[in-house]
Amino acid sequence: MSARVTVVGSANVDLVTRVDRIPAPGETVTAESFDIYAGGKGLNQAIAARRAGARAELIAAVGTDDYAQVLIDTVIAEGMDATLLRRESGTTGTAFVTTDATGENNIVIVPGANGLLRHLTDVERDLVRESDVLICQLEVPDSVVEDAVTTAWKAGTKVVLNPTPVRPVNSAILAAVDVLIVNEHEAEQLQVDLLPVPCVLTTLGSNGATLRIRGEGTVRIPARKTIAIDTTGAGDTFVGAFAAEIARGVSYEAAAMWASIAASLSVEEQGAVPSIPTRRAVDDALGPERVESL
Ligand code: RIB
Repeated sequence: MSARVTVVGSANVDLVTRVDRIPAPGETVTAESFDIYAGGKGLNQAIAARRAGARAELIAAVGTDDYAQVLIDTVIAEGMDATLLRRESGTTGTAFVTTDATGENNIVIVPGANGLLRHLTDVERDLVRESDVLICQLEVPDSVVEDAVTTAWKAGTKVVLNPTPVRPVNSAILAAVDVLIVNEHEAEQLQVDLLPVPCVLTTLGSNGATLRIRGEGTVRIPARKTIAIDTTGAGDTFVGAFAAEIARGVSYEAAAMWASIAASLSVEEQGAVPSIPTRRAVDDALGPERVESL
């Protein structure tokens, strides 16, 4: 039986423009391309865990507009349970993504249905309890994050929290967290060194990551060299891949190394969901000896 990961979070349609450089305030630039992709941190992370080999599911909400079907079709295509996507009256979550020639991006999100995911149902709580790992982010209300993480904590399901878009995290949520995954900006804004969590993984882009385990110290996770085309979803790939690895019992350090390779591969293609690598692609990038040693 493969390891089980449940994600409670957002599902967005990403409206992506590619520009040479991101416009300054008040400036207009012409895009080189425009594409529509499935995205959202919750959906991206669930797919990353799935492609890493876990039995991953996503609990999320979509609207009643035409974009909802794009996300439902994506969930089905990945072999996940589309009945866990609630239909809420109104718009589906939407992300306006601009990527530049260096692969950097900026993103504006409109929560839409994500903002209406306030609590879990009994069936959804059972799914969280039966999982090895729960992942949450903050593109959905705190109430559903608190519901999910406290349910997981009571059942012994490991909790991975990716607190992005960054905002203060309440103490009830923090108390249930096993692993907090942040980027360097979020680490600074949340002052993660002062937070009472057992493990903090800080991603550092092309510099890899650091893993701090309380009582054991900090280790550096190296980065694989790559040329970035589009960094959208790289953090989500890291989170989903890491969760899939710890769900199958791998150590945090080995899981972070594997996730770092997965994230490095994801920046080599455009779009969030299309660029998330399979387990095979990550193992191929590592080479047989490295796979053995992890
Ligand atoms: O992390 C990338 C994601 O952030 C995009 O897919 C977009 O939908 C936003 O949620």
